Amino acid sequence: MNAAIIYESFTGNTRRTAHLIAQELAKAGVNASVSPITSVDYQALEVADLVIVGTWTDGMVIAGQRPGRAARLRHLPVLDRKRCLVYITYAIDPGKALQKLTRIMEERGANVLGGMAIKRNDLEGGARDFVARLLDAIPA
Ligand SMILES: Cc1cc2nc3c(=O)[nH]c(=O)nc-3n(C[C@H](O)[C@H](O)[C@H](O)COP(=O)(O)O)c2cc1C
Repeated sequence: MNAAIIYESFTGNTRRTAHLIAQELAKAGVNASVSPITSVDYQALEVADLVIVGTWTDGMVIAGQRPGRAARLRHLPVLDRKRCLVYITYAIDPGKALQKLTRIMEERGANVLGGMAIKRNDLEGGARDFVARLLDAIPA
């Protein structure tokens, strides 16, 4: 399986999580490319069986949460029923940011299989759980 991870990051947590997810996937024998949303690796995206999209939670901490820089996400290429997983990083309360990210990816044509909100104080644990869950959910 080939995975393409695309992230949007403001202060670095979501970028770091993308690389941690790639490391966890590598341990499981899954090849993963990592690219920022501002410089998507279109070739990797084209051949990917699985697309993973991550961003951060923007909002007023406990209200109005939404995916960070959603406009960039809305400009991703059409994913044409590709399997997709999503994640968001957050500080205190992600609200409905994950559901909103899911919706955006579905609007891009992705077949979103699941997602996870990862708290910024344990990105390693979050990335591990994310990969463990996704490998369970996705047939090879
Ligand atoms: C402008 C701004 C708004 C934020 N709003 C929220 C919020 O509403 N809820 C929350 O839990 N975290 C919020 N955060 C925290 C970030 O979502 C969190 O630190 C995230 O891991 C940042 O990811 P990044 O380092 O990839 O940018 C906010 C951060 C910023 C900079």
